[in-house]
Amino acid sequence: MLPHHAKKTAGQVKRKTLWARVVRAGALYLAGLLACGAALAETREFEMTIEDTRMTLVDKQDFHTFAFNGQVPGPLIHVKEGDDITVKVMNLTSLPHTIHWHGLLQRGTWQNDGVPGVTQEAIKPGEDFTYHFAAAPAGTMWYHCHVNVNEHVAMRGMWGPFIIDPREPTPLEKTVTRDFILMLSDWDGKWADKPGYGGVPGDVFNYFTINGKAYPETQPLRVKKGDVLRVRLIGAGELIHSIHIHGHVFKVAFKDGHALPAPYDADTIMVGPGERYDLIFEADNPGLWMVHDHVDSHTVNGEKPMGGIMSVIEYEEIDPKPALYEWKDKQFQPDFYYEQSLKLPYGLHTPALFKGTAIQ
Ligand code: CU
Repeated sequence: MLPHHAKKTAGQVKRKTLWARVVRAGALYLAGLLACGAALAETREFEMTIEDTRMTLVDKQDFHTFAFNGQVPGPLIHVKEGDDITVKVMNLTSLPHTIHWHGLLQRGTWQNDGVPGVTQEAIKPGEDFTYHFAAAPAGTMWYHCHVNVNEHVAMRGMWGPFIIDPREPTPLEKTVTRDFILMLSDWDGKWADKPGYGGVPGDVFNYFTINGKAYPETQPLRVKKGDVLRVRLIGAGELIHSIHIHGHVFKVAFKDGHALPAPYDADTIMVGPGERYDLIFEADNPGLWMVHDHVDSHTVNGEKPMGGIMSVIEYEEIDPKPALYEWKDKQFQPDFYYEQSLKLPYGLHTPALFKGTAIQ
């Protein structure tokens, strides 16, 4: 005979069945969500080397760099928010390095933050280290060495773009038709051939680059009327850059990868070391329009004016180009702002044009 308390009324049984159904439906829903999330998150494995590499900034100004995969900037890492990322890094130089994934939150994976003496031992020459983390949050992020950043990041080219596409793009970014990455940095030529030294108080920066090149070795941003541009500015160097775009008003849409609740209009934006700004605007004014650093001394190459951080937005509609135009006969490299690489399937991309020369 059942004990008294085990006896259930018809009402109790019915209620229990209902509750069981709710719980089961909830569990199924949760399992569905998890399966869905797992299906969206891809596993991506990459390898990068760090190599002694000679890069030319402009004219005869070479620099000894510690280049990721032998290129400056480093490879583009382009993935989707939530992806499971593994990066094996092999140090082929004669100095220690790490990689810090700037902007990534490393929730539950703090040992992968890439800081020597805090989260890991620096990767010694000839050794390797494998980082493992989730690609989050979404946005314009970047990576750089975290050993002697004053030298390795400031003037040895140890940086590259890390773009994480959001699962839910904002309405504004959905309108973009042309996507450009501009990494800004600064160099003191007296350290060009002295790896292991430099990046100290009193340095006089005399070369200034976009994606490792100074004008006129930079490239135009080619557009046509009606395009919507996204210009991702990354402060990869030592100095502050005041980027001014002629002939247009842009929306400052993202700060450090994060969508601003109220994008605002501007024509000049100050980019500090480590900062990122994504500018979004319509190409609505055919012409040839200067893009430059308004810190005027950053538009020189050594002592020569008309250099450094300068480029031009070139509209297709301006054809032929005026005879006076300095870039009239320019050899165009369409991936200089990673515009082509950004259209490739997700992965790690190494545009050949950023390759330097190996230093033995
Ligand atoms: Cu380093």
